[in-house]
Amino acid sequence: MFCRFLILLLHLTGFIIAVDKGNFKTCEQSSFCRRLRKVKPDNTKYVLDLNSLEISDHSLEAKLMNTEENVQLKFLLVTLAGDTFRLIVDEYQPLHPRYRVEDALNGEPQIAKLELLERNKDAVSVKLGNNKATVKSDPFKLEFYQGEALVAIVNSRNLFEFEHLRSKPTEVDGESDVPKVDPGAWEENFKSHHDNKPRGPEAVGVDISFPEAMRAYGIPEHADKFALRTTGEGGLDPYRLYNLDVFEYELDSTMAIYGAIPVLYAHGLKHTVGIFWHNVAETWIDINNSKDVNVVSSIVNLVSGNKAENRVDTHFMSESGVVDLFIFMGPKFADAVKQYTTLTGTAPIPQIFTLGYHQCRWNYNDETDVVNVIDNFDNGDFPVDFIWLDIEYTDGKKYFTWDPVRFKHPLEMQHNLTATGRKLIVIIDPHVKRESGYFLHEDALSNDYYIKTKDGNVYEGWCWPGASSYLDLLNPVVADYYSELYSLDKFRGSTDNMYIWNDMNEPSVFNGPEITMPKDCLHHGGWEHRHIHNIYGHYYTKITYNGLLKRTPNTRPFILTRAFFAGSQRHTAMWTGDNAAEWSHLAISLPMCLSMAVAGYSFCGADIGGFFNNPDTELLQRWYQAGAWLPFYRSHAHIDTKRREPYLFEQDVQTRIRNALRLRYAHLPVWYTLFWEHTKTAEPVIRPLVYQYPDDTNVLDIDNQLLIGSSILVRPVVESRASTVNVYFPGGASQIWYDSEDWREYPGNGVVNIPVTMDKVPVYYRGGSIIPRKDRPRRAASLMHDDPYTLYVVLDENNSANGALYTDDGHTFAYKSKEYLYIQFKFKDNTLTSSIIDKDAHFSSREWIERVVVVNPPKGIKHADIKSKSLGTLKLETSYTNDERSLVVRKPGVSVQEEFTITLV
Ligand code: NOJ
Repeated sequence: MFCRFLILLLHLTGFIIAVDKGNFKTCEQSSFCRRLRKVKPDNTKYVLDLNSLEISDHSLEAKLMNTEENVQLKFLLVTLAGDTFRLIVDEYQPLHPRYRVEDALNGEPQIAKLELLERNKDAVSVKLGNNKATVKSDPFKLEFYQGEALVAIVNSRNLFEFEHLRSKPTEVDGESDVPKVDPGAWEENFKSHHDNKPRGPEAVGVDISFPEAMRAYGIPEHADKFALRTTGEGGLDPYRLYNLDVFEYELDSTMAIYGAIPVLYAHGLKHTVGIFWHNVAETWIDINNSKDVNVVSSIVNLVSGNKAENRVDTHFMSESGVVDLFIFMGPKFADAVKQYTTLTGTAPIPQIFTLGYHQCRWNYNDETDVVNVIDNFDNGDFPVDFIWLDIEYTDGKKYFTWDPVRFKHPLEMQHNLTATGRKLIVIIDPHVKRESGYFLHEDALSNDYYIKTKDGNVYEGWCWPGASSYLDLLNPVVADYYSELYSLDKFRGSTDNMYIWNDMNEPSVFNGPEITMPKDCLHHGGWEHRHIHNIYGHYYTKITYNGLLKRTPNTRPFILTRAFFAGSQRHTAMWTGDNAAEWSHLAISLPMCLSMAVAGYSFCGADIGGFFNNPDTELLQRWYQAGAWLPFYRSHAHIDTKRREPYLFEQDVQTRIRNALRLRYAHLPVWYTLFWEHTKTAEPVIRPLVYQYPDDTNVLDIDNQLLIGSSILVRPVVESRASTVNVYFPGGASQIWYDSEDWREYPGNGVVNIPVTMDKVPVYYRGGSIIPRKDRPRRAASLMHDDPYTLYVVLDENNSANGALYTDDGHTFAYKSKEYLYIQFKFKDNTLTSSIIDKDAHFSSREWIERVVVVNPPKGIKHADIKSKSLGTLKLETSYTNDERSLVVRKPGVSVQEEFTITLV
């Protein structure tokens, strides 16, 4: 036992750096996964009794019969706004209540009127907008059509299974009733852990097929490619969703890691369908891409001239809960993403500084260390907005306290930081140190706030502080109590400018089964941990969010989380956890964040430099360059790594890191505008190419490039010693992309091999876009607020371009009272026009336009005329640069508050 614990400790402390797979279950080792995977396609025992059908103006309800075991289930199909169907199957009178997820959705979904198309004894069809659903009785199936095209079939392969709750069979009964004597159905062992399953088997599973789909994407979080792979083949386990603290997680893997979002998009060239499996229990998902499995048939097809049939089959399996499935009818990828994101909520606009650079390590040792790091950033002219403190700042890992020696003056430290325009973020983890005299532990014990074991005792596990217990966040009283701890009088030494990092909230339990909480632990309301596991971390961060709001009501909270569920994007940014200083980890940060972005969660980043081990300077520089193009930009490192703050390196390395940081800061207006637009349109801030170019077969598997909004294409260098990289330019030949450094042109018709030096980051602006930047180098975003803009007007083949700019005070909720500016820029007929989009919104901005750079400009321009109310008409100087690839219009000097035109003459 001790030996195992030592190995675990070695893992934790980073001395051993390969995942110990034996700590985590495979599907075969998980009883319900085994059971549900064994369901055969001849499982036609479910019949929908259409005689019992009741039709309302937005739903169909009927009895779904398990004919083998004579159990009646309640079937409900609801039509929702936004071209969405919702299928719910539950027991009529379960032996115990079955868990229904609360809080993932952003409120009750809005219903939409259904139109009955047809009804007979075998089937019933309803219409929703341009979509149709046909529900079939025997065998039970649901077919979904976009127009005339069949795009999704639920229970297509008859894998539907709903294990009704039952009494434990006695010896006399034998174990004749389902699930057919799987040894883990009523209790289960994994390694030394025993799972007492008082309710027995209660799994649910359903298969969904997507005729015509060519790829499936989504279901983060996995350290894997963006396009989902065929499971089952070559022993590839199903994709698992079970929030886990996996040390040195493996890449190209379907293993579960920290977070879970069960949304999947099945994408074909004509149609995309999304599905959301609204279930927070442990889940496994099998994927079958016909393109992968039909090697033989594709050869046959090739020979015979037949077209290979595209199709994606999926199979969702969860340990408990009900079947609650949303079907997003698209029709395009972007529509399906929007439908999902609207359902679970968009992320609110963050404080603009949080989009700047964050400096973190485990740990900055004391107050002097913090001061020195910031001083060194200033001396080296490296912009930074936040410095972070990891667990060692606390008094013995007791959260909401400070180390009395090393962090004796937290208030003074923070005031000094804010005086330089920087802010502090500290870590708060969910495990509570079991130490008598620690207020939190005492309160939890005396008020009965802790999660219990199956026998009703306070559950005790191990985490950073040693013996720890865990608050029962499902109890609203506990949630309230805990959120109050963020008030300034409770969290002594904190300030209104301090923000929070929630880590280990899967929850991580070092000595628990699979490094988490035993499933038979008990929560408020009688729920076992198994019923709610994947949403525990979400509840934890929601409490933090509410706590910060209560503490500082008019400031947007910032919280970083490691664990999450669908909907967590409403409260938190996330990062991809404990990666390693390896090129492969740099590369995988892109597909990982892209999967998050289409799952409604754009605010994603990876530890710059890699958490475990020491990156060489080449990797570190490339990571700074690449990380600048993911929404959350933070460097972080394990406690045993060498210091790697940017100022510690040779001058040339420093220069490149500084340039990467400055490029990030120059684009802050772009990021900020995109985050604003995300709140309005639900469009992701970063996008895989397939999102923006869904009809292009070439982009289906591209996940080493990404789009920032729709206008910036980035192909970070993620390979060691690269002298060239291949860049795919999308959009067809008439779409020109411009290298953002020298304005060279690349038509959107294929792959170009681009030479790269260590200074080069392949970043391209789309012809037809207008990109607002703030190009004056500063030490922090907080110091750039009133800085002027440079507008990059990148003309398309028709000499026109479009763009937008959002600005406000950068940190409060005043935007909710319409204190902001949202501006549209248009270039047409040699004239750039700015106009206010939301006329009823106002913001007294001191920002102004310092420069306009026209890329691909018309020839022969001599000067420009600017017109605005306050300026009248003025003549502006212009000059061509970069071999006439761009034209600079000098000092328009107009406030962004004013509408204006600038005409090239
Ligand atoms: C695990 C987190 O993933 C890592 O970022 C952090 O440094 C350690 N916990 C210590 O708090």
